[in-house]
Amino acid sequence: MTEPAPQKRAKKLFIKTYGCQMNVYDSDRMADVLAPIGYRVTGEPEEADMVILNTCHIREKAAEKVFSDLGRMRSLRAERAKKGAGGLVIAVAGCVAQAEGAEIMKRAPFVDIVLGPQTYHRLPELVAKAARTTNGRGILDTEFPPEPKFDYLPAPRGQGLTAFLSIQEGCDKFCTFCVVPYTRGAEYSRPAADILREARGLVADGVREITLLGQNVNAYHGATDSGATWSLARLVAALAEIPELARIRYLTSHPRDMDDGLMAAHRDVPQLMPYLHLPVQAGSDRILTAMNRGHNRDHYRRLVEKLRRHRADIALSSDFIVGFPGEKDADFAATMELVREVGYVQAYSFKYSARPGTPASGLREQVPEDVKDARLQELQAELTKQMRAFNASCIGRDLDVLLTGAGRYAGQLAGRTPYLQPVHVQADAGMIGTVARLRIVGAEPNSLTAAAIAA
Ligand code: 5AD
Ligand code: SF4
Repeated sequence: MTEPAPQKRAKKLFIKTYGCQMNVYDSDRMADVLAPIGYRVTGEPEEADMVILNTCHIREKAAEKVFSDLGRMRSLRAERAKKGAGGLVIAVAGCVAQAEGAEIMKRAPFVDIVLGPQTYHRLPELVAKAARTTNGRGILDTEFPPEPKFDYLPAPRGQGLTAFLSIQEGCDKFCTFCVVPYTRGAEYSRPAADILREARGLVADGVREITLLGQNVNAYHGATDSGATWSLARLVAALAEIPELARIRYLTSHPRDMDDGLMAAHRDVPQLMPYLHLPVQAGSDRILTAMNRGHNRDHYRRLVEKLRRHRADIALSSDFIVGFPGEKDADFAATMELVREVGYVQAYSFKYSARPGTPASGLREQVPEDVKDARLQELQAELTKQMRAFNASCIGRDLDVLLTGAGRYAGQLAGRTPYLQPVHVQADAGMIGTVARLRIVGAEPNSLTAAAIAA
């Protein structure tokens, strides 16, 4: 009788994700490519056989955090060795890896693998190579390969009711503050057929809401099998034909690429949610020019008016940078004025952070830190006020809520409104996965409460 082969222990993979939704998507795909070679994701770094730090280079703070976290990973490795628990593979992925790969190898020579956002389909190869390496040096792969990684990634499986789907990557716009064109590379749109296939697969797995992702998602121009090129509006129309796909969103858009077709889709496609993240960055024309945004304040205002003509209830969100080099009080006042005029339901605001290699980092007239602090505070106070006012204005309204899972307390479910606000409601777990029209009865700063659904 032959002995059964000893069960090989599944190896455990811990991924820490910094930064944007694109990185969240990429982390999931990295887990997918490592699954066939035996890695299962864990939430506990202490039990991991491999850790990946999927990094963000957008601001200095995010980038610096990687080095302190790397120190922690090194200690983890030492503790594992002491316990005789085996080695720990340490990998750095994402945008810091792309921008500062050589620096990472120098400052943290104990790192095994450094890989950029465009090469993670090669991870199994890189892990094997790292295992064979005997010179104690890490492996660096930050190429921009000619083959798109998407062609080599396994089809993602839907987990839960909402999913991200990456359709576009990279950026050709070169805003003077931004590292993305350097870290993510040139703009690339995935073929439409691949996206539709991936979306159908996700829906078959139970996903009811898909958020299309891209650094410049509305610049999407994907090839079709017949040789045509689809815009984002056309792609959205095709996705809307998938039965069971209740909601479609897209993120992040640039004002320059907000074409009439896409704005009209907010009127014509019921599945396209009335929510739009449309970063303006600043409200002063002088600063917008210095940022190389390619649009002015009036252009942005007209877009908002048009969007609201198509879809009166469209909720807007934006990113803002305060303290861009040369920003005077009057420039900042123009930003505040635009914010009051447009009205946002959600926003992200940042102090300008000089990034190596970007044109703005070399500008004289950098704004002192205390001025940036004061401006950020003022802006955030206004944005918070607007968000709270919007939440409060929802009380008494009936809103469609996609119920996505259990809430924090027993008998409670959690969900999202069309405007992305989290909602809590007493309801039966059998309602999970449905879109229910609910009466909003309460508003917290960051969420809403709906009247209980009778069983
Ligand atoms: N400093 C501060 N904020 C930045 N962003 C991008 N680059 C910088 C920078 N150098 C912000 C922009 C962008 C968001 C993702 O991050 O607002 O829209
Ligand atoms: Fe950060 Fe931009 Fe890279 Fe996303 S794409 S991880 S926001 S630097």
